[in-house]
Amino acid sequence: MAKIVGGITTSHIPAIGKAIAEKDFESHYWKAFFDSYPPVRDWLDEVKPDVAVVIYNDHGLNFFLDAMPTFAIGAAEEYRNADEGWGIPEIPPFPGDPKLSWHIIESLMNDEFDLTTCQEMKVDHGFTVPMQLMWPERWTPEVRTIPVCVNTVQHPVPSPKRCYDMGKALGRAIRSYDEDTKVVIIGTGGLSHQLEGERAGFLNQEFDEMCMKKIVDDPEALLSYSIPDLVRLAGSQGVELVLWLMMRGALSDKVNLLHQKYTIPISNTAAGLLLLENLD
Ligand code: DHB
Ligand code: FE
Repeated sequence: MAKIVGGITTSHIPAIGKAIAEKDFESHYWKAFFDSYPPVRDWLDEVKPDVAVVIYNDHGLNFFLDAMPTFAIGAAEEYRNADEGWGIPEIPPFPGDPKLSWHIIESLMNDEFDLTTCQEMKVDHGFTVPMQLMWPERWTPEVRTIPVCVNTVQHPVPSPKRCYDMGKALGRAIRSYDEDTKVVIIGTGGLSHQLEGERAGFLNQEFDEMCMKKIVDDPEALLSYSIPDLVRLAGSQGVELVLWLMMRGALSDKVNLLHQKYTIPISNTAAGLLLLENLD
């Protein structure tokens, strides 16, 4: 049977993609941030997952405000990137795993989560930057990918509880897949940030640190926040926390915290990194 080996949370900021393209790893601005990733890569090298399920939000590349699915999932042979205007070079396509995608889709539908199913899907920085951080040499990729896309852009945005519950259903779906497949779940984005309006640049370190703690041992403590609460406490893009909660829902109740780092600010955002080993 398939096994969920662990979960990772990481920032997905486009500026990281630009720094990667320019190999700007050692400058004063980037060194501490990039230095926090080798322990995660070492773990991935050791555990060797076959598939990465990447939970992210599309920022206007594949979906736009005219038609915005709450939850969408890829079921394609490959996922192409395209220029979003952030100055990140386009990178080669990521391989998919349509068989596992369709298994997850069937299982989630039976569990009353109605997804938009995408047999073609372009992936933006929300997906590509985390993948580049995890597998910098992925030009010979061993890992297949399944993008799970959550609307965090156009309100109404699904609540922390809804996303955590869908994560639970995602975990059940993967564990019921009748193949020896090792799966890692990546929750991208966050933590506090706001890119526009009067509160542009808003960060909340205290709230972020509380979330990084709770998500490990007591994620359900975060489920009573509403989306307006998250906007107030973490900024309008800080609602990306729901992506972390979906990842956490897919893991076992108890997990091993193997690595963590909080870097503030990176661009306009507080960047949080967690590596959680799954215990079931
Ligand atoms: C930034 C953060 C994001 O989450 C994003 O999608 C785009 C930009 C930033 O801080 O620059
Ligand atoms: Fe974002």
